[in-house]
Order: sequence, then C-alpha cells, then structure tokens
Amino acid sequence: MKSLKDQIIWITGASSGIGKALACEMSAQGAKLILSSRRIDELERVKNNCAHPDNIFILPLDLTDSTNLEAKVVAAIALFGHIDIMVHNGGISQRALVAETEIAVHRQVMELNYFSYIILTKALLPHFIERRSGYFVVTSSVMGKIGTPLRAAYAAAKHALHGYFDCLRAEVDRYGIKITILVPGYIQTPISVISGDGNFLSSKSEQISGGLSANKAAVQIIKAIKNEAYEPYIGRFIGEERLALFVKRFLPILFAKLIPRLGTPK
Ligand SMILES: NC(=O)c1ccc[n+]([C@@H]2O[C@H](COP(=O)([O-])OP(=O)(O)OC[C@H]3O[C@@H](n4cnc5c(N)ncnc54)[C@H](OP(=O)(O)O)[C@@H]3O)[C@@H](O)[C@H]2O)c1
Repeated sequence: MKSLKDQIIWITGASSGIGKALACEMSAQGAKLILSSRRIDELERVKNNCAHPDNIFILPLDLTDSTNLEAKVVAAIALFGHIDIMVHNGGISQRALVAETEIAVHRQVMELNYFSYIILTKALLPHFIERRSGYFVVTSSVMGKIGTPLRAAYAAAKHALHGYFDCLRAEVDRYGIKITILVPGYIQTPISVISGDGNFLSSKSEQISGGLSANKAAVQIIKAIKNEAYEPYIGRFIGEERLALFVKRFLPILFAKLIPRLGTPK
C-alpha cells in the first residue's frame, strides 16, 4: 500500500496514547477515520485536533461490552459504506505477581485485550471476505513475545493475539486480507495499569515514561502498515525490550535463565 489517502480506517483505543497519535497522523495523510473508545469527550478532542475532522466519525464503544460489539461493526461499516483497515488497539496493562493476581483480573484483561479483538474481527470478517480485501492491524506488545515477572495476565492476553491472528492469516490470505501484528516496546502513554486485586495503579512505570513518544510510534506503525509488515517491532532503536526480543528468539534457553536473575521490573 503506497498511501493511506482515502483509506477508511477504524481505530479502537483512539482517545489516548498510541491510538490518538495514529489518528492524527493518519488524518494528516488523508485517511478517513472512525474513532472508538469509551470517552466521547476525549474522542471529540482527538477528532478536532486532527487535520481533517470532516473525514472523521466517532463511534463510542466499551470493548468489554461483548454483547454490543457486533452491532458496533454494523454501525461502523454504515458510516462510510465500507472499511479498509481495522486497527485493534484499545487495552489496559497489568502489574502483579501471579501469586497475588485474582483470577477475575486475568478474565478482565483477557476480555478487553483479547476477546474484544476477536469478537470485532469475527463480525467484520464477512465484510472483508465479500470485498476480497481488508486489513487487520493488531496492537500486541513485546510482552506478546516474551514473559517477565509481574505481567502474566497481560502477557497471556497478548500471546493469545499472536496465536489467533497467525491462524486467521493462514485462513484468509486467499481472500487478499492482510494482518499485521504490532509488537511495541515501551511507548510514552498514560496507559492504565491494573493490579492483582483489580484496582488501578496510580504510578506509571519508569520504562513507559522513558519509552518512545506516541507520535514517533505512530510514524513507525504507519510505515509498517504501508509495508504490510508481518510482525514489526515498534519502539526505541536501542532499548532493553528490543534486546529481549532478540535473545528470546535466537537464544531462548539463555533468555529463560537470565530473566529470573534480572530482578522484578518496576
Ligand atoms: N504504552 C506502551 O508502552 C505499550 C506497549 C506495548 C503495547 N501497548 C498497547 O498499546 C495499546 C494502546 O495503549 P496505550 O499505551 O496507547 O494506552 P492508553 O493511552 O491508555 O490508550 C488505551 C486506549 O484504550 C481505550 N480503552 C481502555 N479500556 C477500554 C474499554 N473498556 N473499551 C473501549 N476502549 C477502552 C482507552 O480509551 P477510553 O478510556 O476512552 O475507553 C484508550 O483510548 C494497548 O493495546 C496496549 O496494550 C502499549
């Protein structure tokens, strides 16, 4: 894909962070957008800050309201008449030891970071198949490729995305449907972090504060979309998360031995 001009792109998690930065950059490049998340006022703010607000619709939704998501897909298609690209991006993060994480928290993270993506995908798939065209862009994480202390619920949900979308890619390639799974490292965003008892943590991690800016991440993501990249790393060129991906891929046993010795991340 050479250009995003006139591409109709639906972004979830568009009110903040990576989704917000993507919306602004995609609008500047001439895309037509549907922006979704829960906070309508924030979505309106994002829309009005974009280069071409006239080409942007807002479609509020709660990704954990699974009974409503199929209707949201019907509504999204109706806005511009079709959809070219679906960017699955909304989500939360998590920090807690496995021993201190309630099963309900695992379910909560899974519901938002995994099940909402696959419910929307399944509902949108017939539209893509009928058009013999379509593109799912999925925001995973470095934690979708590795595991470290404190991140079991989050890593499990992100790993699940790789399994699901790898299988889907194999099934829908013959319809011309593309799938890119984004693997971001630390990106500076106000991402919400849930603890083991279901409360949200107020302090942000030092790694996220020191990560790549969301605007730079958006530029990298758009380049990956244009290249129809398979599983691009998004983040700082030099950083511990990139090194971790490399070691896990090529020296997995060394990685498994090193991670417990590196201590618990903040
Ligand atoms: N920041 C990082 O370092 C990093 C690294 C790797 C991967 N990621 C991934 O990047 C994606 C975006 O996160 P971010 O860092 O940009 O964080 P963010 O700024 O907090 O953005 C998260 C977005 O998800 C939306 N959201 C949260 N709960 C929702 C719900 N129940 N229903 C609908 N929308 C919901 C939020 O909007 P509302 O509150 O308006 O609903 C917000 O727009 C996530 O999938 C995250 O796992 C982030």
